[in-house]
Amino acid sequence: MNVNGKHFRTIWVKEADNECIQIIDQRSLPHNFVIEDIRTVQQMATAIKDMHVRGAGLIGAAAAYGMYLAALQSANSNSFDDDIQNAANNLLATRPTAVNLSRAVEKQIKAINKAQDIYQKIQASLRTAQDISNEDAKFCKEIGFNGLDLIKEISYKKEGQTVNILTHCNAGWLAFVDYGSATAPIYAAFDAGVDVHVWVDETRPRNQGARLTAWELLQHGVPHTVITDNVGGHLMQHNMVDLVLTGTDRTTYTGDVCNKIGTYLKALAAKDNDVPFYVALPSSSIDWDIENGIQEIPIEERDATEVQHIQGLLKGEIKNVQLTPEKSPAANYAFDVTPANLVTGLITERGICEASEKGIKSLFPKQS
Ligand code: MRU
Repeated sequence: MNVNGKHFRTIWVKEADNECIQIIDQRSLPHNFVIEDIRTVQQMATAIKDMHVRGAGLIGAAAAYGMYLAALQSANSNSFDDDIQNAANNLLATRPTAVNLSRAVEKQIKAINKAQDIYQKIQASLRTAQDISNEDAKFCKEIGFNGLDLIKEISYKKEGQTVNILTHCNAGWLAFVDYGSATAPIYAAFDAGVDVHVWVDETRPRNQGARLTAWELLQHGVPHTVITDNVGGHLMQHNMVDLVLTGTDRTTYTGDVCNKIGTYLKALAAKDNDVPFYVALPSSSIDWDIENGIQEIPIEERDATEVQHIQGLLKGEIKNVQLTPEKSPAANYAFDVTPANLVTGLITERGICEASEKGIKSLFPKQS
């Protein structure tokens, strides 16, 4: 996507230095656009854990490049296989909820094990990381095409009046390698001339909506309004939302959707007000092993300081200030699960389906 008119992905190999991976450091957005060099798997693990990079698809790509860096670092090591396994374990421990991360690490281990000598192992891991990144961007682009008709249909029914879409967190291109999942249909509709407006949930505690989704939409010129997390229900009661469209960090093969904390409450409000609730996802976010999302998906609990403090711009400098009484404890559950029965449909790279085992298998019959 474009930043000030220049095309960027969220992660890439540095030009003329293929031992360095570059990322957009999302901690500085929307106030500063910072590119960070990552040269070791340890740096990549920190970047994932501390959310320099975040979002299901991007975490997967970052972990894949992390494994490539691990292979490079161990090129002359006598314990190459052990080093690779340790690197994998470290990456797997960074963020537990998005399934893309473990899938990317698994793919890398297979690719590295299959190659013959160290040189080929390094080349194979670079290729695998690039394949994972390119597939992520391609799938998101296809999600855009597949979701476009849905938005066009609403616009047609409204005789061309503004289509109001509510989204939660950031399932935009910053959460993937390019395009985004939930935002891809919105960008496609906007580019096709459909009159769209996006209600952007701020998404406490890290404010991915207020900081990242708003910035992305602004860069693309899409009309939007940032709202606090509790506003959605009120808007739905007053016919001010035509469609709720979110992403997901992990979706079970039965259609339960795990996404940023607060998504479930939006789905409940949508159900109560007959507002369609769609989830956009590349198939890399589907967990083919888990049946019951509420019971089986690990929910990341992050540091309480993210709830107790808030970050913003003050006189040109990014500041972090205390929000709660210093001695009040806080809890920071990062994700929740929306059961399949509250989800109107899933928008994938292969088309739209019902959020159910039958629906998902109609699009992905070979998976298990
Ligand atoms: O904690 P984050 O920012 O990595 O959370 C991920 C998300 O951005 C959301 O849950 C998003 O809606 C799905 S990821 C495409």
